[in-house]
Parts: sequence; structure tokens; C-alpha cells
Amino acid sequence: MAAVSAQPGYDELASAYDEAFPVAYTSAVERHAVAIFADAVLASGLTGTVLDIGCGTGHVAHDLSKRGIDVVGVDPSEAMLALAAKRYPDIRWSQGDARISHLAADDRLAGIIARFSLIHLDPQVVPEILTAWVERLQPGAHVLVAFQCSDDAAEPVVEFPHRVARAWRWRPDALSTALTAAGLSEKWRSIASPDDLHRYPECHLLHQIPV
Ligand SMILES: C[S@@+](CC[C@H](N)C(=O)[O-])C[C@H]1O[C@@H](n2cnc3c(N)ncnc32)[C@H](O)[C@@H]1O
Repeated sequence: MAAVSAQPGYDELASAYDEAFPVAYTSAVERHAVAIFADAVLASGLTGTVLDIGCGTGHVAHDLSKRGIDVVGVDPSEAMLALAAKRYPDIRWSQGDARISHLAADDRLAGIIARFSLIHLDPQVVPEILTAWVERLQPGAHVLVAFQCSDDAAEPVVEFPHRVARAWRWRPDALSTALTAAGLSEKWRSIASPDDLHRYPECHLLHQIPV
């Protein structure tokens, strides 16, 4: 698999990020999307952990934990994870990137959530990473991804200026197709329009491994 950048920008700017985003969600859509994901995981009856990939400062993993989900927060940034661990010491945190190759292979997953973290991956490595996720997910497991999206019909994915690290916006259909090619089925999607707090449309995609 091609190399995945460690994104050192988040180490340098972790404190500023923490101040800029002191709570889990910046919109009701985000909060409800995560709640629906949590409900779907619990209703699946699957045992096993849910990974929050690119968990950042840990607020969303904490929300999932409060909802009864056994969650592990994964992030390549030592500084972001340190803030998460200090605030939420009862949750498990694991330093590593979206390839999840650092996690024990026998740990079968009940779900994966990746909010605004796949945007930082070179689009060329995303299909391989989704395949690696599917290899670890149990039948019936759910995957929720959130990302700034593009409506450029000519380009499935476009790089955009991001304050911390290189980042790419995907067309919702393009990322959904990549998830489907890896072995997942789309359950629903939402697309929120830009507003005062959000420069770009933001998409949530919920997919599931067929039972
Ligand atoms: C915009 S923050 C989102 C944090 C959190 N998911 C949230 O919703 O608040 C992006 C996070 O993705 C992480 N990240 C960057 N590159 C990554 C990679 N290759 N694999 C996994 N996470 C990555 C960053 O360290 C950062 O914590």
C-alpha cells in the first residue's frame, strides 16, 4: 500500500484546533448523523469495537461511548490524542493512521466512523484503505464517513485549501462508489449546504457490510 502522510500539521496546531472546536459538533446535522450511526450499530447486535478513525481531540468518541458504544479512538497525531486522553481518560486511544495496520488483526469491528479525516488522505490510497477496513469489519457492521464535498461534475475529487494539512473534497457519488467497490452498501446520505460556519457542502454517508 502507498505511504500515508502522518499529517504533522495537527501536532503543531492541536491546541489551536482544540480551542476552535471545543465541542463535538458544529451543526445539528452532524449530531444527528452520529446518533443515527450509533443507533444502527447498537441495533445490529454486533459485539466488537467501533473505531473512530481520525478521532482528533476525542469529543465524538466520547459521545459514542456515552451512547453505549465500545469505541477506540485512532489518530496519527500524538498531540491531538494527548488532548483526547487527558479529557476522556476512560476511553481507549490508539496512535496510528487510517490504514489501521497497527491494530491487532483478530479484533473484528462492529463499525467505523471517520469524520473529516479521509479528506486528508491522498485520494489514490483511499480505495486500498477502504478495502483494509472491510477486511476487519464484521457482516452487518456500519461505516459513517463525513467530509467536505464537491459538486464539480468534471472532477470526482478536488484538492482544497485547508488550514492544517493537505485536503481533498470528494463528490458524494465518487466516495460512495469507492465504499461500494470495497464491499459496502450505501444506506443513506445527507448533504448540508454551506453556511456561515461551513465553507463547503458537507456530506455524511452511512454504509453497511451486507449481512
Ligand atoms: C478535521 S480533524 C477531525 C477530528 C474529528 N474526527 C472530528 O470530527 O472532530 C482531522 C483529523 O484527522 C486526522 N488525520 C490526518 N491524517 C490522517 C490519517 N492519515 N489517518 C487518520 N487520521 C488522520 C488528524 O490528525 C485530525 O485529528
